Amino acid sequence: MNLKEFAPHVVNRINDFMSDYLDGMDDEVPELKEAVRYGLLLGGKRARPLLVYATGMALGQEERILDYPAAAIECIHAYSLIHDDMPEMDNDKLRRGHDTVHIKYGQDGALLAGDTLQALAFQILSDERSGLSDRAVVLLTRILSVRAGYSGMCGGQSLDLGAEKRHIALDELKLLHSKKTGALIRAAVMMGAMSADHVSPKTLEALDEYARWTGLAFQVWDDVLDVIGETAKLGKIAGADEFLEKSTYPSLIGLDKAKTYAEECAHKAIDAVGVLNIDSSLLCEFAEFTVTRDH
Ligand code: IPE
Ligand code: IPE
Ligand code: MG
Ligand code: MG
Ligand code: MG
Repeated sequence: MNLKEFAPHVVNRINDFMSDYLDGMDDEVPELKEAVRYGLLLGGKRARPLLVYATGMALGQEERILDYPAAAIECIHAYSLIHDDMPEMDNDKLRRGHDTVHIKYGQDGALLAGDTLQALAFQILSDERSGLSDRAVVLLTRILSVRAGYSGMCGGQSLDLGAEKRHIALDELKLLHSKKTGALIRAAVMMGAMSADHVSPKTLEALDEYARWTGLAFQVWDDVLDVIGETAKLGKIAGADEFLEKSTYPSLIGLDKAKTYAEECAHKAIDAVGVLNIDSSLLCEFAEFTVTRDH
């Protein structure tokens, strides 16, 4: 399968899995469940689940076992977007082509939907029906919690807010991007890899190198799309970074250099997995996609 076939397959598969999972939970708090379903299931590229599946399957793991870590990381990502859009952070009204969760369910609803999704991630990851070994569950929990929290996404979000309306050094921006977005991309690849058995340290190292460059490429291109993208295609309002005076690659080094840098990062990612004797074609195609996408 190439990426053109694999990407829609992943979207359908993970959406069905997550929808079924929510269906399996009780209906005692219907309003919260509705907000969670809205924030989790309405659109999204499912890039992080795709990386879990692509990595895990390249290393011989079964797709049905990978459903659990793939859904777990998407829950963390969905929660991060719900909170990112709130007035206290980026104050966005459109996400994935729909009203943001706080517009639809209020700030209290959005806060709790995000909190619930964060807990749900670890509920799904530790679900005994997954078929993951106890050891793998512990390792994956460790990866996801570290990369989602202080040392990863939350840390990056804090740096991002602190970098509004002021000039920061390029090194600081690289760190910020590596944390706020790179950390979950890295977690996705590592969770896919650690779901499989007996992966060599050399392979893990190369995959991690791949994920670090892909994560950076992904966020630099996100910055680029904020400048050149169209609201209708993006499903979020273009130009929002400039409005908020965010520190971004285009704002710091200019649009053309930002594009070139994103492409360089993607090529470094591809080079990193080139040394491995596994089928890394989907990973390479994904790295290329991160810097050619229009949404
Ligand atoms: C948007 O992520 C926020 C970033 C971390 C750059 P995505 O571009 O993966 O958004 P969805 O999940 O497809 O909506
Ligand atoms: C968000 O970065 C990264 C997250 C951890 C959610 P952005 O603020 O640039 O994401 P968008 O552009 O709103 O999707
Ligand atoms: Mg933000
Ligand atoms: Mg934002
Ligand atoms: Mg952005």
